[in-house]
Amino acid sequence: MLIRTATLQDLDSIASVESECFPPAEAASRERFEDRLKHYPTHFWLMFDDEKLIAFLDGFVTDEQDLTDEMFARAELHNESGKWQMLFGLNTLPEYRNRGCAGELINRAIKDSREQGRLGLVLTCKERLIHYYAKFGFVNEGMSESNHGGAVWYQMRLTF
Ligand SMILES: CC(C)(COP(=O)(O)OP(=O)(O)OC[C@H]1O[C@@H](n2cnc3c(N)ncnc32)[C@H](O)[C@@H]1OP(=O)(O)O)[C@@H](O)C(=O)NCCC(=O)NCCS
Repeated sequence: MLIRTATLQDLDSIASVESECFPPAEAASRERFEDRLKHYPTHFWLMFDDEKLIAFLDGFVTDEQDLTDEMFARAELHNESGKWQMLFGLNTLPEYRNRGCAGELINRAIKDSREQGRLGLVLTCKERLIHYYAKFGFVNEGMSESNHGGAVWYQMRLTF
């Protein structure tokens, strides 16, 4: 499966995968992805089965230590020379799950962030996924201040 970064041309497929993977209260809108793709297309990791987008991961780079709700909404806060790679969204289409697609994307994001000289990566997730991210070296830092979509989120960090 091919993994590559994004361009604005990928907008429709990204928005469509997102809406298949998240409930409406949590899914990022097409407009939000358009904004993100304008500010940080090279911090999207897309996985394709032939021409079809089946999974993706995205998040911007910042000097801020902690991931906040404001970051999800304001792509212009991206700072290409920032210390931390934030991870905002991870999605695999339902019919492609449980075969390591998301894992490959996470490993690619970790590799790229290391090569770019970042301090590490930060994400927020629901409790049920803490064990999953721990397998890649992310450490749980406890409950995040985020209440995105009305849910409880935990912040996890992988430091190089
Ligand atoms: C969470 C999500 C991205 C995982 O995607 P995925 O591509 O299925 O992820 P992986 O295949 O890497 O891992 C999923 C499970 O499959 C297992 N797995 C990985 N490779 C495997 C393989 N080759 N064969 C069988 N199982 C495998 C993993 O160990 C993991 O199991 P675990 O949770 O018990 O540890 C996907 O379920 C999704 O899009 N969910 C909805 C959106 C969401 O909640 N995103 C996360 C927001 S923080």
